[in-house]
Amino acid sequence: MRTTWTRSVSRGLVAVAAALAMAACGGDGGGATQAPADFVAEASDFECLQSWVRVRNIRLTNRRGFLDEAVALAQSPEPGKQYPVGTIIQLFPGEAMVKRAPGYDPANNDWEYFELNVSASGTEIRKRGRDDIINMFGGQCFGCHEAARDFDFICEEDHGCVKLPVTGAQIAVLQDSDPRCGQ
Ligand code: HEC
Repeated sequence: MRTTWTRSVSRGLVAVAAALAMAACGGDGGGATQAPADFVAEASDFECLQSWVRVRNIRLTNRRGFLDEAVALAQSPEPGKQYPVGTIIQLFPGEAMVKRAPGYDPANNDWEYFELNVSASGTEIRKRGRDDIINMFGGQCFGCHEAARDFDFICEEDHGCVKLPVTGAQIAVLQDSDPRCGQ
């Protein structure tokens, strides 16, 4: 009797230990040595830009819990930065850059470009990708942003990209008139 009880308890402990070990490694397989899980944005990940953090002309958020890191990078003038997976950066309500997992598009530091339709009822993804994504002035996103390769493809005003035909004040007006705000 005693032996059987001990054996079944110890078998139970082995099962608990195995479950704990799996939990410690992360149920989704995300161990310390593995790449972070990919972030595939959905329409609902895009929101009223006024509800996101603003750094100079940029609005940003992070959908993987790395907002502090993303904001610190945006505030730093240093080159060589790499925004964390899940970062969404926008200048205009209808265009976005989203950071995917390492390996998604290495030649483009794993950014995915978006054309969005925005209205009072929310956001629709019109197009996503790289080479076919065109801004409201008819220019290819990647074609301009690759000039800022040393700054993780973020142009700002002084990272070497061809300029946009808008002033900082006009950018602010476009963000303030985002039709998704105040719903
Ligand atoms: C003509 C070149 C050009 C094209 C084409 C272009 N951009 Fe930009 N983009 C810029 C410049 C320059 C800035 C910085 C503007 C500023 O802060 O004054 C910028 C800023 C941005 C920002 C804010 C972060 C940053 O890089 O400063 C995002 C996000 C962005 N663009 C996304 C896009 C997307 C998405 C497309 C395509 C739909 C696109 N851009 C097309 C030049 C371009």
